Amino acid sequence: MVIQKLRKKLNNILKEKEDFAFESDIIISHVTKQSKHSWLFQKEISDQVFIECIELAKKRADGMPLQYLISEWEFYGIPIKVGKGVLIPRPDTETLVDVALKLTNPHAKIIDLCAGSGCISAAIAKNLPNSHITSIELSTQAISYLKKNLLPFKNTVEILNDDVLNKKTAEKFQNIDMIVCNPPYLTLEDMSNLQKEVKFEPSMALYGGIDGLLFYKQISNIWKKSLKKDGWIIFEIGCSQKQDVLNILSQNGFINTKCIKDLSNNDRVVIGQNSIKYS
Ligand SMILES: C[S@@+](CC[C@H](N)C(=O)[O-])C[C@H]1O[C@@H](n2cnc3c(N)ncnc32)[C@H](O)[C@@H]1O
Repeated sequence: MVIQKLRKKLNNILKEKEDFAFESDIIISHVTKQSKHSWLFQKEISDQVFIECIELAKKRADGMPLQYLISEWEFYGIPIKVGKGVLIPRPDTETLVDVALKLTNPHAKIIDLCAGSGCISAAIAKNLPNSHITSIELSTQAISYLKKNLLPFKNTVEILNDDVLNKKTAEKFQNIDMIVCNPPYLTLEDMSNLQKEVKFEPSMALYGGIDGLLFYKQISNIWKKSLKKDGWIIFEIGCSQKQDVLNILSQNGFINTKCIKDLSNNDRVVIGQNSIKYS
């Protein structure tokens, strides 16, 4: 089989997708384990490669996210392993990392709540190798990806399989400089209108209670005592949640609250500073 023929076939299977040519090429690179630059100049490909590429393209045409098909996606310049049971890192979440890196210090004690694939912890650890990060995640499926993704940062990051909504989990931590958290924040209504591709992702990573605010309310209340005075909490938010989350932080005694927009100009991150010495 000639490579250009395979490309045409894949483009045809994926014709409904906006970036079909790009996606076809990513699938070929994944299956051949070669960069586009290398396979493009190859005249023939094996039947095995042909069959695998077609199978993946068909799954993609049925809605499976490309990231799950190729098992990896880049976040903050770091390759992150992904698959069924773990949320695919979104580019919007890089804004949270930018904010965290600006507000913290090189030796900070940091907690990443709802760590998922570990993309946030990995990005902070890569940039602050002398910090100490605890990544907390409840899902056993997600934990397996978290472990793989954070292995290169094992001198900086510790992993805890626990429930962040349980007061007892928070009570294990004191004098923390910064809490970062991208929690599940979709409302019940959002969950009934999910795009076909998002339906492949775990609902545990998406659903934030009827009003989408469950994790913001609980975490602000339960975890504030783990923070040092002047320590920061940094939440990713859905783009319509700014005012609600700012209010939740103020009601829990946080000061200097502020919302930061992402690169698409959507409200994306809300921060607040703990004003009380709890311990
Ligand atoms: C929106 S995802 C964020 C994942 C990752 N931090 C990211 O930014 O890509 C939320 C994560 O919270 C986890 N989660 C849900 N409920 C939890 C709980 N009670 N305790 C700990 N983690 C929880 C989900 O399994 C999921 O991995």
